[in-house]
Amino acid sequence: MNVENKKVKEGEHSAACLKQEIERLKKEKNAVILAHYYQIGDIQDVADYIGDSLALAQIAEKLTADIIVLCGVHFMGETAKILCPEKKVLVPDAEAGCSLADSCDAEEFARFTAEHPDHLVISYVNTSAAVKALTDIVVTSSNARKIVESLPADQKIIFGPDRNLGNYINSVTGREMLLWNGACHVHENFSVEKIIELKKQHPEAKVLVHPECKHTVVLLADKVGSTAALLDYARRSDATEFIVATESGILHEMRKGCPEKTFIPAPPSDSTCACNECNFMKLNTLEKLYNCLLTEQPEIEVDPQTAAKAVRPIRRMLEMS
Ligand code: 13P
Ligand code: SF4
Repeated sequence: MNVENKKVKEGEHSAACLKQEIERLKKEKNAVILAHYYQIGDIQDVADYIGDSLALAQIAEKLTADIIVLCGVHFMGETAKILCPEKKVLVPDAEAGCSLADSCDAEEFARFTAEHPDHLVISYVNTSAAVKALTDIVVTSSNARKIVESLPADQKIIFGPDRNLGNYINSVTGREMLLWNGACHVHENFSVEKIIELKKQHPEAKVLVHPECKHTVVLLADKVGSTAALLDYARRSDATEFIVATESGILHEMRKGCPEKTFIPAPPSDSTCACNECNFMKLNTLEKLYNCLLTEQPEIEVDPQTAAKAVRPIRRMLEMS
């Protein structure tokens, strides 16, 4: 089937056809596709690189392509654009936001930090460029612990916006960082009861938990870590069964990397669905990815003044990682 360089509608063409056309456009336009582990499997399969938030920023910084298509959510595209202002950065769906980033309004955060002028400001990468511009060091779930531990013990710290990641870092480092009261609606929605129920059915299974989950869920974990750290643990572990408490897109790469092992998604607390999905991450489809490469839209733009401030804490993170 020929898509003839025209925009496509959902379901109009097969995945195989779209993947072929995406490959063609990628070469034609010197474009590179980066995808987060929470993307649908078809997008992960057509991507040049897949990774966690840290890896995506590190890869973007080093690319020589003219166009970066960031298949993830908006703040990930923004981070790539801030690091590579000369490149065109595209996202398949501009509506792919993040409830955690939205839980931290830049003006309110500016007031909060102004009330504590003696505190260093650490922000999770899941924030807007405007919040990053108010930040001293950006972190991801991969490097937050290492970066906090590298700071002097008496350094006062504000940590935003994720109260769960902040609580977790406080508990493992013994710090008392002042936390912004934000959260991710997906990770907050895992249920202790449902994980305990799964554990009864699979007593040998290791429990893998993302640190954006509530403290009560983190307490059930054999491994707490970023998406990349959970994948690495699953690959290296001698265990053959894993209960996975993070967005279910990660199961694609887990199953691909360890076909002999069993990965059981931890379900959300408020529905009968077996998997907990991020509605924002799942806005991206192969059709939107193809259309975005074709039309070079939607493009991520960051106000240059904000970008000039936001790039410093991101670079500081990359140096400290
Ligand atoms: P990672 O940094 O672990 O990839 O997580 C990003 C994210 O959005 C988690 O919800
Ligand atoms: Fe944001 Fe949560 Fe979705 Fe991650 S899973 S992108 S933190 S809403």
